[in-house]
Amino acid sequence: MLSQSDMLARLGARRPNYALDQALYCDPGVYAHDLQHIFYREWLFAIPACELPKPGAFATLQIGAYPVVITRGNDGMIRAFHNVCRHRGQRLCAKPTGSSPKLVCPYHQWTYDLDGKLLYARDMQEGFDPAEHGLKKVHCVDLGGMVFVCLAEVPPPIADLAKVMMPYLAPSGLKNAKVAHSSTIVEKGNWKLVIENNRECYHCGGSHPSLCRTYSDNPRMTAMEGPDSASPDILAHWKRCEAAGLPSRFVNHPRMQWRLARIPLLNNAESYTMSTKAAVARRMGTMPFSDAGSLLFFHYPNTWNHFLPDHAIVFRILPISPTETEVTTKWLVPEDAVEGVDYDLQNLTEVWMNTNDEDRQVVEENQAGILSPAYEPGPYSTIQEEGVIQFVDWYCGTMTERLSPASVAAE
Ligand code: FES
Ligand SMILES: [Fe+2]
Repeated sequence: MLSQSDMLARLGARRPNYALDQALYCDPGVYAHDLQHIFYREWLFAIPACELPKPGAFATLQIGAYPVVITRGNDGMIRAFHNVCRHRGQRLCAKPTGSSPKLVCPYHQWTYDLDGKLLYARDMQEGFDPAEHGLKKVHCVDLGGMVFVCLAEVPPPIADLAKVMMPYLAPSGLKNAKVAHSSTIVEKGNWKLVIENNRECYHCGGSHPSLCRTYSDNPRMTAMEGPDSASPDILAHWKRCEAAGLPSRFVNHPRMQWRLARIPLLNNAESYTMSTKAAVARRMGTMPFSDAGSLLFFHYPNTWNHFLPDHAIVFRILPISPTETEVTTKWLVPEDAVEGVDYDLQNLTEVWMNTNDEDRQVVEENQAGILSPAYEPGPYSTIQEEGVIQFVDWYCGTMTERLSPASVAAE
């Protein structure tokens, strides 16, 4: 198990533009540092807000050792709490989603309001103060219909992302959407391999026959700073979208922790379907036409997303162990779209159900090869894998800063 100084040394010895050292993809000590310094400190995408349509709706997630519950209160506000009873620590809500007017602990029925207040604790002695035993809060924001949580006491700033993201997401009308389908799979691979795989399409031609019907694997299309003037078709697409009120140009965090970019689909495809036509007969929000392409949004360390004219697909990853990662995908459609009338679930989900399973296989095989003593980090393609290089640079830079003795002492 790598110590902090071992890990710093391996990060420091990394060759630029090369894959990471074996231990960084599987060692339990590295995993513990990844949780402590990234997953317990950064804003994480949790759920689409429309998953909690009414007061009393709740959703749960597990971030490393921390069970978290997210509720919609009677005032309509979305809040997040540690999903841990203040009596003897029972996990309050075990189900992934549900609805309840109050949160009642299954052990001894201590009862909490949706805003976390302890309302009722039977037969507690004089001197017991319910006000001191409300649920512990977790920071929580709703950015244009995407709910992020942060476990840190003092979360990193998110105002810059909010300012940019809201206008990009607004035409997609996520507040007036519903979850048509949700899928959770476990990939037997380190969380960084899951992100690395997502950040390139070098593998798409060989792995994703369904997705490649509509999604271009041309690396210029999604180059980090956006396509250059050698891509007049993309520039024309942006002009058309922007004239119709859809912010489209590539915009990113200064250190590339997030990026928004609207790209056209292949051959004027409308959606990620086998037929390339829209999967849903209604459009999201105020999307003006059916061939607006896909708005891509990633945010490290745990989400990437596609916002299409007829639906949206949101992805969340959460690490489970050094070599296991949970990947949850949700398909959002306009709230008034009726299954069987306006869309067929199989048609809506087929391409990304296939793509997720194909990605699971490549990630698992990637992890299996990296576990070999013969593994040696190889060079990324600077033409095809710019996004991977950028993610790995973000990870190594962030971890090096946070593991350095001065910053650890300051914690
Ligand atoms: S542990 Fe929750 S009521 Fe006892
Ligand atoms: Fe893939």
